[in-house]
Amino acid sequence: DAAIVALDREHHRGVVDRRLFGSFVEHMGRCVYTGIYEPGHPSADAEGFRGDVSALVRELGVTLVRYPGGNFVSGYDWRDGIGSREQRPRRLDLAWRSIETNQVGTDEFMSWARARGVEPMLAVNLGTAGVLDAAALVEYCNVPEGTEWSERRRRNGADKPHEVKLWCLGNEMDGPWQTGHTTAEQYGALAAEAAKAMRLVDPEIELVACGSSSHEMPTFGYWESSVLELAGDYVDYISMHAYYEEHDGDRASFLASGASMDDFIEGVIATADAVGVRRRRTKRINISFDEWNVWYQSRYPGSEAMPIDIAGPRIEDQYSTLDAVVVGDLLSSLINHADRVKIGALAQLVNVIAPIMTEPGGAIWRQPTFHTFAAVAAAARGNSLVTRVTAPGFGTRRYGEVPAVAASATHDPATGDVAVFLTNRAEHAVTVEVRHPGFDGWSTVSALHLSADDRGPRERDTAADVRLTPLATSASDDGRGTTLTLPPHSWTAVRAA
Ligand code: AHR
Repeated sequence: DAAIVALDREHHRGVVDRRLFGSFVEHMGRCVYTGIYEPGHPSADAEGFRGDVSALVRELGVTLVRYPGGNFVSGYDWRDGIGSREQRPRRLDLAWRSIETNQVGTDEFMSWARARGVEPMLAVNLGTAGVLDAAALVEYCNVPEGTEWSERRRRNGADKPHEVKLWCLGNEMDGPWQTGHTTAEQYGALAAEAAKAMRLVDPEIELVACGSSSHEMPTFGYWESSVLELAGDYVDYISMHAYYEEHDGDRASFLASGASMDDFIEGVIATADAVGVRRRRTKRINISFDEWNVWYQSRYPGSEAMPIDIAGPRIEDQYSTLDAVVVGDLLSSLINHADRVKIGALAQLVNVIAPIMTEPGGAIWRQPTFHTFAAVAAAARGNSLVTRVTAPGFGTRRYGEVPAVAASATHDPATGDVAVFLTNRAEHAVTVEVRHPGFDGWSTVSALHLSADDRGPRERDTAADVRLTPLATSASDDGRGTTLTLPPHSWTAVRAA
């Protein structure tokens, strides 16, 4: 089988926002405690943050981190996490049935994020808290001095404002599992009022309203349009969340997760734009895809089955090479919608459905999904090119026929660097010619790939064997194309200059 992926340097969607390569740190399981933070760990710095985790966060290339939840935020009082650590309360976290010790809070997270060069994205609690609490947190973070909350921050050791520019108005408020779950109308009205108050505190901030928790939610579409009717004048983004997994051995549908993500994104864009047209708004609402990943949710027994503990393990999925291929494919979907999807967050960063795993007091390792994410975060620069893909069809039970080959590509006009990301969903090899006639002097720098095997989830030791390996390429006779044979069920990154 053969496929063609045609690139045109002038035909693009504009610049890929670097915030697309974000991740997520929730107070959940071992993401914070024994994840990013573990005083006493041999690699811990003076603030108690694990140095080995920081090194892998840098290697992963994460640009932004969303914090502190997730479902956690809907029961969280941010005041519990500031000031003297000895006096911070131990609270029962209803979302994950844990005892939250509050040893890490807003100031610690901000210090962690800034020192690691990642942009913070903070979520406010709109489940069990309200407008005043949200506005007070913006005041605490962003007002330089002279008010109750800004002076409190300064007394707590942060003399300069944290300057948090990106804020989520709650989390998954459409989900019945959410503490404080409401209707679309109630949430839309609350989000509008919270947004107004938060922006009065700091007019420079950007705001994300909650969209649907997944494409499958019964209120999907209705939720987005109702929320944007009420809050669209006050927000900049609508959120999307999606988790993918292989159901009942249906590998073909799982490999087509990127096609499903495409449909979901296009549905949200259509819905947001329809509301904008009806309301005669000139502003376009863009997308913050602030939770996405592979997550074997069907294996999760539910929080009710969990013992109440302190930083006990929660959803520590082990990933396979197949999962890593799918993560690469999902990133192509995000890049292919870069004109509207401005923010992305791989959920989550450490230990909880994460690319980075740690052992308390001990080792750290990369999951297979680390490698595809890191390759894209490093290479995707500049414009998102419109790729014209001609490929054989690939039948799936869930999504019908999708192309056997999926592609995305970026081009940085300043450096001339090009990156092409290719997924072969088929169970046989496919030879692809990447046509690049407008790229004079194209020189392939590398082609690295990962093939899915049948070895299933990788434990710590076997995860260490996973890496991207070189794939042969050849120049087309006319010099205007590059040909490579994609192995079955594989993902490839081609870099050219
Ligand atoms: O990432 C795990 C959980 O998934 C988050 O807390 C929630 O927002 C989503 O349902």
